[in-house]
Amino acid sequence: MAKILVTSALPYANGPSHLGHIAGAYLPADLYTRYQRLRGRDVIHICGTDEHGVAITIRADQEGKSPKEIVDFYHEVIKHGFDALGIDFTHFSRTSIPLHHKVASDFFLRIYEKGYIVRKDLEQLYCPKCQRFLPDRYVVGTCPYCGYPGARGDQCEKCGRWLEPTQLVEPRCAICGTTPELRPTFHYYFRLSAFSDALRDWLASKTHWKDNVRRLALQWIEEGLRDRPITRDLEWGVKVPLPEAQGKVLYVWFDAPIGYISATIEWAQKIGQPDRWRDYWLDPETKLVHFIGKDNIVFHALIWPAMLMAHGDYVLPTEIPANEFLNLMGDKFSTSRNYAVWVEDMTSRFPRDVVRFGIAMILPETKDSDFDPREFQRMVNTELVNNFGNFVHRTLSFIERYMGGERPKLEAVDPEVRAQVDAAYRDVETFMESFEFRKALRRILALSDFGNTYFDRNEPWATRKTDPKKTQRTLAQCVYMVRALAVLMAPFLPDSAEKIRGFLGLPSLTWDLGQSPQDVGSDRLQNVEVLYRKITDEETEGLISLIRGRAQKTPEKEEEKPMTQEPIKPEISYEDFAKLDIRIGTIVAAEPVEGTDKLIKLTVDLGVKTVTLVAGIKEKYSAEDVVGKQVPVLANLKPRKIRGILSEGMILAANDPEGYPILLHPDKETPPGSRVT
Ligand code: 2FM
Ligand code: ZN
Repeated sequence: MAKILVTSALPYANGPSHLGHIAGAYLPADLYTRYQRLRGRDVIHICGTDEHGVAITIRADQEGKSPKEIVDFYHEVIKHGFDALGIDFTHFSRTSIPLHHKVASDFFLRIYEKGYIVRKDLEQLYCPKCQRFLPDRYVVGTCPYCGYPGARGDQCEKCGRWLEPTQLVEPRCAICGTTPELRPTFHYYFRLSAFSDALRDWLASKTHWKDNVRRLALQWIEEGLRDRPITRDLEWGVKVPLPEAQGKVLYVWFDAPIGYISATIEWAQKIGQPDRWRDYWLDPETKLVHFIGKDNIVFHALIWPAMLMAHGDYVLPTEIPANEFLNLMGDKFSTSRNYAVWVEDMTSRFPRDVVRFGIAMILPETKDSDFDPREFQRMVNTELVNNFGNFVHRTLSFIERYMGGERPKLEAVDPEVRAQVDAAYRDVETFMESFEFRKALRRILALSDFGNTYFDRNEPWATRKTDPKKTQRTLAQCVYMVRALAVLMAPFLPDSAEKIRGFLGLPSLTWDLGQSPQDVGSDRLQNVEVLYRKITDEETEGLISLIRGRAQKTPEKEEEKPMTQEPIKPEISYEDFAKLDIRIGTIVAAEPVEGTDKLIKLTVDLGVKTVTLVAGIKEKYSAEDVVGKQVPVLANLKPRKIRGILSEGMILAANDPEGYPILLHPDKETPPGSRVT
């Protein structure tokens, strides 16, 4: 059986994790790993803290501590946060351990000896006051591309460009503010340019990859790959293993991905099978899956594969399911401003399954998404509590209350139930294998929704007096569905799945068990209890005040120029306006228009009639996001064909500063067809 090696991006040990990190890499990796394990596959999930680089040393400077103190502290903090959320690593290592230093040095030497690393003389910024070279973020200045005054030596946060420190206009030492001078030094460069063709060929076979990953990587290749300096003048890091390279360490982005290998070796040693790591890294059949956020794409889809090609022994990444970013109530997460929801904020307030559910529902899989405590409350209360939790509980508590807790025997599976369960299994499998976890979760919720409908339709509360046999049959079907739901939900809600397993007295949960009608489990239900409680308005408002109250005002924000909006159009009469017939419509169905980036076909209930509209909203909304939403519609616009579809009106939306649509919704549920005046 092919092995699956899952990794998630090694987090810098310079601060705790926030929900953006979790949604970017760690929860998806955990869902995938748990799912594969449930399927009985040979899968391991490897991670650890990234403990080198200027992200660490600058934090140490700021806190007046040594880098070692910083990484020791935050390694524990980060690990604790993952535990609290149930992110289940096979091994969680760290890059400051001697084993990692050895593996990274050997890796360097191997490709150096093969001629893929070369020494180059150059001039670098040096601070005469601090008496040191200023790599990466140790120098700040004005971005040569966008003019942003706070750009760092490695990247401009404003326009996102990667920079060399010497490109900055009016550079300053980030520690003391002195204007640095150029001094001669030398560094080692990885010959990335030598791998252009090999990388292009390799990427050509990855047609099923997410568009964001493949496109970005190919774009870089087309723009021409440049050789990359992979050493720095720093004390802290993996020493360059060459006698003439005193005072130099490996660039953090060179050693960090090698951490995936060293962490696997450490795991193998820890379990007493020191060669076991080879089964994963040296077997060309291994499926290597790197979960990352989009800011890490270039490193994982180009530089790291090129390093692996240069080395030659190890497998190349099979999949790189990079996520987009999670925002927080419409703004970016900002660690420096403390505008964030930290893992601890959530796990100290809500059970971890509830937190996992809330994040899984909004994973930024295809576009940036937003965490808003109000939406979190709504989804948890309607979907987790009222739908899933309710179905499980009403089924099991009915049996406890009216059937003496004796589990009804399943004589035959109702064909309708069978079809529903089978279809859910098929769909969830497809979605989980293709990293579409949001869709998988919604598909499972659709099954429990069916369960609730089935329960209602069969009215066991009524039949128990008139037709006990039928009641038995209904409840047996419901228990069968509860069991299937527990299996399907196990990757998302491990604690809940485990509880349901206990209620049913099942020895374990495996994928096939949920599908099999075979009657297993104990004869009596055991200790049934309510799975979830609703989130209150007070809790939601409390969380919002916490986030807002803690965030510091950002100078960057204040400096931002006000948006210049278009001038108001020429005056019109009321009669002109009265010609427009604007109604509130409810979107009842939506599907993307094939072959377009922007268009979604909507079916909208306007009360008096149902119409088809083609709306240019796909860049910001997915079809599934908008179903059920209410929007204003210009209902008497002359119909016109768009991409072969007759659009009978137009939805009205605001435009954000970049011209993307923002949907507008009535303040409260409004009967479709209501006029907007
Ligand atoms: O962006 C980050 O947080 C990096 N520490 C990720 C490293 S991923 C891997 F290469 F180790
Ligand atoms: Zn200085």
